[in-house]
Amino acid sequence: MKPFYRGRRLRKNAAIRSMMKETQLMPQDFVLPVFVVEGEGIKKEISSLPGQYHYSVDMLGDIAEQMQQAGILGCILFGIPDHKDSCGSEACKEDGVVQQAIRKLRELSPELYIIGDVCMCEYTSHGHCGILNVRGEVLNDETLPHLAEIAVSYAEAGVDMVAPSDMMDGHIAAIRTALDESGFEQVAIMGYSAKYASAYYGPFREAAHSAPSFGDRKSYQMNPANGKEALREMQADVEEGADMLMVKPALAYLDVLKEGTQQFNLPMAAYNVSGEYAMLKMAVQQGLMSESVIPETLTAIKRAGAKMIISYFALEAGQKLKQGEWV
Ligand code: PBG
Ligand code: ZN
Repeated sequence: MKPFYRGRRLRKNAAIRSMMKETQLMPQDFVLPVFVVEGEGIKKEISSLPGQYHYSVDMLGDIAEQMQQAGILGCILFGIPDHKDSCGSEACKEDGVVQQAIRKLRELSPELYIIGDVCMCEYTSHGHCGILNVRGEVLNDETLPHLAEIAVSYAEAGVDMVAPSDMMDGHIAAIRTALDESGFEQVAIMGYSAKYASAYYGPFREAAHSAPSFGDRKSYQMNPANGKEALREMQADVEEGADMLMVKPALAYLDVLKEGTQQFNLPMAAYNVSGEYAMLKMAVQQGLMSESVIPETLTAIKRAGAKMIISYFALEAGQKLKQGEWV
């Protein structure tokens, strides 16, 4: 018989398997999404995201400490204001929830890398990611100055990076210009470059009270059927001055992520979104799959090329990796 490929030789025992492992998760791969609400003394579990909490600013010490213990170096903040209006005016207030949270976290953990999600849907009464005209259409160019103003207000509060998730055209350029003109040329921008109109955002919208009150987001977020279009979006973000690119959601779009890492030299992030988290959490809780499905899934995101994984699993991942449980 002709000799054949014997792949099993390099899988024979734990030692060789460990030596041959191509992708190793590390705590510093992860960024934790944090939801901040108004009020005091609040740490309330989010029903759509088991194990995730709404925090009021005064309670952020709890999450700062957990990140520190788990070796998680960065977080991305989402604000949930009490008051919404048609143009999301709370989003850029100096004492808005996110701006306060940035200052508080900076004080609690000077080394923490703080990212601010820039969008309007949590702040608008209609729940869309921009300004509307009378027909209920999301206006692109009219939205840009609002986004820029939000980004500058985060920068004034001391954010390290802003991540606009609104999917307006030209938003990276608008934000870059505004930051630079205000003296914040050191604040980085991560483009939510290929952000798809996805049902996987369901649990987040419940958590952030940001579901659109009418219609959907298909006129600004991408069609899940499209891969080449994602490359055009990434190209635009590169040209407009983004420091990092992102693909979102992660799991159903690993092909897009991989293609992006091959075509562009900027570091890529993947957002392992709320629905992806909730699905696995529930499946493990119900005994349908063993817990190892979590590191398996997160490893796949890294294997596809993500330099940064934004995930609700961040704390759990950091802890397990530090304890040597996910090897
Ligand atoms: C808002 C925003 C969304 C997410 C991040 N920023 C929801 C949306 O676009 O409707 C989703 C995150 C997640 O599902 O975890 N622009
Ligand atoms: Zn939005």
